[in-house]
Amino acid sequence: MTFDIVTIFPAMVDAVVAAGILGRAIERGTLDVKVRDLRDYTTDRHRVVDDVPYGGGPGMVLKPEPIFRALDAIEAERGTPLTVVLTSPQGARFTHAAARRLSGVGHLVLLCGRYEGFDDRVRARVTQEVSIGDYVLTGGELPALVVLDAVARLMPGVVGDERSVAEDSFARGLLDFPQFTRPAEVRTSGGHTVRVPDVLLSGNHAEIRRWRKREALSRTLERRPDLLADAELDEEERDILKELRHGSD
Ligand code: ADE
Repeated sequence: MTFDIVTIFPAMVDAVVAAGILGRAIERGTLDVKVRDLRDYTTDRHRVVDDVPYGGGPGMVLKPEPIFRALDAIEAERGTPLTVVLTSPQGARFTHAAARRLSGVGHLVLLCGRYEGFDDRVRARVTQEVSIGDYVLTGGELPALVVLDAVARLMPGVVGDERSVAEDSFARGLLDFPQFTRPAEVRTSGGHTVRVPDVLLSGNHAEIRRWRKREALSRTLERRPDLLADAELDEEERDILKELRHGSD
């Protein structure tokens, strides 16, 4: 899958993209990410990308022409039509389902917002506008990286073990069960020791599976009950959930 990320802070995006799982996927050629400096698409000597808002008011607005030039260049290079995602607090909330839909598109352009926003005419070339949450960040680079990461990890071959992608939180609409690793007993700060739940040391795989289902369900019920409305539950999980709900009556 190919991503073009248009930003006025390419170094910020480069640093994240080079590290970790995304970096390895790029090295292997599973993922192709091109970071484009919006200033490269200006035509003036000072490479100006912003201007004052018509009608007055604080802050600066990103000028439309460099963005249109960048999109024209990407279109010429990659072929049409482009799927352009604009990150902004005015967008639709970005979710796992949205990441899954975008992972079906072979090529994505991520436009990072800045300052007080974009000249609104840019929206004529935007396929979808996404917000990563109800808070305002200083710019669209972090949201664009969030979108890139969430979409890229769904591509086959990006995450080493496909099972961890299929089983993780939100893939089925449940939070994860708790995980433990060695040692089986560890000292905490107060001098107490905490043990891994016995069931995980039992070697009884049927019991372990049931315990994990119960933990995932009770966590979801406690922390994110809203998710349960759309969760895909099997019969055993539906029974466990009934028990858990009954227990809290
Ligand atoms: N730009 C600034 N804040 C944002 C947010 N919450 N989501 C997406 N883009 C943004």
